[in-house]
Amino acid sequence: MYFVAAPNIDTIVSLAKRRGFVFPSSEVYGGLGSAWDYGPLGVELCNNVKQSWWRWLVYERDDIEGIDSSIILNRLVWKYSGHEATFNDSLIDCRKCKGRFRADKITDNKCPSCGASDWTEARPFNTMLQTKLGAVADDDPTALAYLRPETAQGIFINFLNVQTAMRRKLPFGIAQVGKSFRNEVTPGNFILRTREFEQMEMEYFVSPSAEHSKLVDYWVEQYLEWFGSLGIIRDNLYLYEVPGDELAHYSKRTVDIMYRYFPEREKPWEELMGIAWRTDFDLSTHSKNRLDAEGKRVNPDSTEDLSYFDEPTKQRFYPHVIEPAAGVNRTVLAVMMDAYSERTTDKGETRVILKLSPQLAPIKAAILPLAKNKPEIVGMAKAIKRSLQPLLRAVYDDTGGIGKLYARQDEIGTPFCITVDHQSLEDEAVTVRDRDTWEQERIKVTDLAEHLQKRLKPYTTPSLPEPI
Ligand code: GAP
Repeated sequence: MYFVAAPNIDTIVSLAKRRGFVFPSSEVYGGLGSAWDYGPLGVELCNNVKQSWWRWLVYERDDIEGIDSSIILNRLVWKYSGHEATFNDSLIDCRKCKGRFRADKITDNKCPSCGASDWTEARPFNTMLQTKLGAVADDDPTALAYLRPETAQGIFINFLNVQTAMRRKLPFGIAQVGKSFRNEVTPGNFILRTREFEQMEMEYFVSPSAEHSKLVDYWVEQYLEWFGSLGIIRDNLYLYEVPGDELAHYSKRTVDIMYRYFPEREKPWEELMGIAWRTDFDLSTHSKNRLDAEGKRVNPDSTEDLSYFDEPTKQRFYPHVIEPAAGVNRTVLAVMMDAYSERTTDKGETRVILKLSPQLAPIKAAILPLAKNKPEIVGMAKAIKRSLQPLLRAVYDDTGGIGKLYARQDEIGTPFCITVDHQSLEDEAVTVRDRDTWEQERIKVTDLAEHLQKRLKPYTTPSLPEPI
């Protein structure tokens, strides 16, 4: 019997720590607020999510390039992007218990810590994390720099570099994956909201006369498809059309894809990603030639003009941007929650099975010797591990009885267990056990690599319609 999907985030927190996916950070010093460290299996899972995303957008499509920009950019980037002035959370303090909260997260006017309703006035708090560059005096204001709060700006300031170097014509996109930082007021809920996290962002540049709203819908559909390929259940996703008064300063339309992170709550949804029409705000704000209504330069500090010359129409303009912005960590959490299942054995024992999509599984095949005191069996198992390793991530494990080893691999989502037994020495064949059905097949060692590769074939999204 299967219970599909995790009942709550805590179930995943416990599995993640027990099995080496995610550990609380700095635990030897009592932890650090909401920081988490990815263990041996977690780093593989994160890498597989990022690789799937990169393959899907940068390799499979022909209209997207990838970059990797600096985390620390010139401070002026954040001045002209509007982040210095507006990347604020609205803060309120509870006068009774002195707790500090984001005003927009208090829905019933009651303090989540003590239940009182006695608040200070709300005030803005800029959530960019600050640092100082160089060996400078503590109070030297010219040394101030920020750790990027979004990867997007590194893409905008490289628009012209990429477009000219790669001879791109509109429409085309630039993708980037990497760390971002926000001094969140109330981090929490495991890896859902942390101060250091990873984003997968893509800026899709189009003409000012393109059908922008339809393009937002197009990218929403593409991402629903991709999340499906990662094993995220469609019923656990919900589309939220962000109302006008909640839109970011650069956006004319944003649709958030929400995931059911809190199935046990009355309000189960939290943002997994957003798809925004950012207009021409970013490219024009970083450009030296943009003039305001009175004919004054909007950006007197910029040395470049990030406009685009359209050959067919002989017009120069600032392209508009459609931005799908997703979080690696939130994707990993959603993937783990939907992969989680429990199965009761004939003996009445409950087993956890992480039904990860094979493309995401940290380990694709575990090679298990049936008798670890038999050198021929151990030798054969280790040789099979070595032969598979160049093709797929394989491990050798002899640290328990076969039942225990199967159970451990099921719990971390390994799609195939390969058992080498006494008979293997004679017939040069092994048993391949399927994680989801527990069915076993006898396969010749010479056919093993091909057999596994066929069954692990990475998912490719179905042929995509042309963007509008
Ligand atoms: N460039 C647009 C942008 O950054 P966002 O909605 O603020 O938009 C995009 O962030 C995604 O980044 C979110 O949907 C979420 O998945 C992830 N994200 C944002 N803040 C986060 C945090 N504090 N912890 C974990 N993930 C976060």
